[in-house]
Amino acid sequence: MDGNGRWATQRGRPRLFGHRAGAKRVREVVESCPDVGVEYLTIFAFSTENWRRTQTEVAGLMSLFRMYISREARALDEFGARVRFIGDRVKLDAKLVKLMDDLEVLTQNNTSVHLTIALNYGGRDEVARATKRLAQDVASGNLKPEDVDEETLPKYLDTCVLPDPDLVIRTSGEARISNFLLWQSAYAEYEFIDTLWPDFTKEEFARLCASYGGRDRRFGGVKT
Ligand code: FPP
Repeated sequence: MDGNGRWATQRGRPRLFGHRAGAKRVREVVESCPDVGVEYLTIFAFSTENWRRTQTEVAGLMSLFRMYISREARALDEFGARVRFIGDRVKLDAKLVKLMDDLEVLTQNNTSVHLTIALNYGGRDEVARATKRLAQDVASGNLKPEDVDEETLPKYLDTCVLPDPDLVIRTSGEARISNFLLWQSAYAEYEFIDTLWPDFTKEEFARLCASYGGRDRRFGGVKT
C-alpha cells in the first residue's frame, strides 16, 4: 500500500494524514474481493525496514494500526472476512498484539475472503525465522536433514496455511519487491501501477484482476 506519504505531501499535509487516508481505502478493496474472484488478499501494512522512519511516523502508524483494528473488527467480521496477521510480533507492543490475536480469533470461522495483514513483516526475516525453527526440529530429531526440501520449508513460514500469491500489485510507481513474500512470489504475476494507495479504488482493482485473468502462466513449462 505504497504512496501514502507522497499523497499527503502533494496536499501539504503531514505523512500520517496520508496513512489515515490509506487505511480508509482498505475496506472497499477487501469488500470487493468476492466480486472480482479474489479469495485471498494480503496487504503490506508495515515492513521490518519501516522502523527506520522517524519516531513520530512509527508511533503514529502503530497507533493507527491499533485504531484500525479496533474500529474495523466488527465490519470485517460482519462481512465474513477471516483475518490473519503475518510478520514478527515480538517487536510490537502488547496492546497491539492482543488486538491482532483477538481479531484472528473473532474471525476464525469466516470464509467470504481471507485477509492477511503483513505487520512488521519482511520476506528475508520470515525465511530466517522459519529456518531457525526448522533447525530446532532437526536438532531435536523431529526432522531429518535429508527430508528438507521445497515442500518442507514453507511449512515453517508465517504463510504456511495460505496459498502462494497469483498476483502482486504494487502502487505508487515503484518497480521493486521490497522484501514482500519473497519465497511465496516465485511465480507470481506483477502489476506496478502509478496510482498512490489512497487513490486506489475497487474499480482499478477489478481492472487489474481482469487483466491478470488474461495472462498466460506457464510456471517454467511450455504451453500445451
Ligand atoms: C507505505 O507508503 C505505507 C505504509 C508504510 C503504511 C501502510 C499503512 C496503511 C495504509 C494503514 C492501513 C492499516 C491496516 C492495518 C490495514 P509510504 O509511506 O512509503 O509512501 P511514500 O512512498 O509516498 O512515502
